[in-house]
Amino acid sequence: MSPLHVTRTLPEDATGAALRADVRRGLTAEPKWLPPKWFYDARGSELFDEITALPEYYPTRAEREILAARSGEIAAASGARTLVELGSGSSEKTRYLLDALTSLAAYVPVDVSESALVQAGEALIAERPGLDVHALIADFTAPLDLPPTPGPRLVAFLGGTIGNLLPVERAAFLASVRALLAPGDGLLLGTDLVKDERVLVRAYDDAAGVTAAFDKNVLNVVNRELGADFDPDAFDHVALWDARREWIEMRLRARTEQTVKVPALDLAVEFAAGEELRTEVSAKFRKAGVTRELAEAGLELTHWWTDGQERFALSLSVVR
Ligand code: SAH
Ligand code: AVI
Repeated sequence: MSPLHVTRTLPEDATGAALRADVRRGLTAEPKWLPPKWFYDARGSELFDEITALPEYYPTRAEREILAARSGEIAAASGARTLVELGSGSSEKTRYLLDALTSLAAYVPVDVSESALVQAGEALIAERPGLDVHALIADFTAPLDLPPTPGPRLVAFLGGTIGNLLPVERAAFLASVRALLAPGDGLLLGTDLVKDERVLVRAYDDAAGVTAAFDKNVLNVVNRELGADFDPDAFDHVALWDARREWIEMRLRARTEQTVKVPALDLAVEFAAGEELRTEVSAKFRKAGVTRELAEAGLELTHWWTDGQERFALSLSVVR
């Protein structure tokens, strides 16, 4: 069995410095916001995995349905020898691709969550002793230094995580993915689709409160890493649909007027009663928009697959 290769492409303190910069910028902005990548410490990754099993959270099941039905076609169209997966998390659905890609030599999962990467990587090498797994602890919005594994490459970005980037970030991200691809390589992109508002809001505000705990986990991360004194119980989880921008927004609403101290930043943050802190956007897509955004990044959409209820889409695109 080959060992799990784990590479941290971020210097040890890069995460701390980036968190400090993001928290200062977001908590001094009007309105206040924090980037969603800070949800995913070990507890946040566990909570996300719980979300994927909730009855209200359809995207994981819908994407799994597509992968189960289409991985053979995806493998035939890509012929990949290296599968790079951005924001791989538990790599659970990836197994359909790993089974179908019969010429695969290497799997390169990329994630900011070290705990999720190591757990998933160790499980995969135990299951598939011939597979070379190079786990990269890295931020996929920063330039990536991929290991020199054989081509062609298939870069997979599943789960609809692209929707967690703001439109301007999405354009920069797609351009950077394009730069990783050579002729013959491909991008497999999972996008959640626009649908009934009630279905969408329920998916982000479940009855068991798991999404609320996931949302509030970002406060625990800021408390632990920056010595802040957020009281997660002093905030309510809010999920709302922005029909103009076609995205779900998750927010934390202060129950009362309060001041939160962030000692590592020498910062005191005032919240008015009812004031909201935006913690995530989750954009929903239409085929025309996905095709256009890919084309603007120099990628040509060649395949578009949806689940039976047209809730979610997987697209394959190639260098134009
Ligand atoms: N692909 C999996 C997990 C989706 S959850 C699925 O479809 O179920 C989103 C994943 O992206 C998490 O594992 C999180 O840690 C990771 N992530 C979020 N922002 C990231 C960033 N900027 N760079 C790298 N990984 C990121
Ligand atoms: C990872 N990402 C695609 C999830 C989503 O649906 O936007 C994160 C999430 N937020 C709340 N629930 C799940």
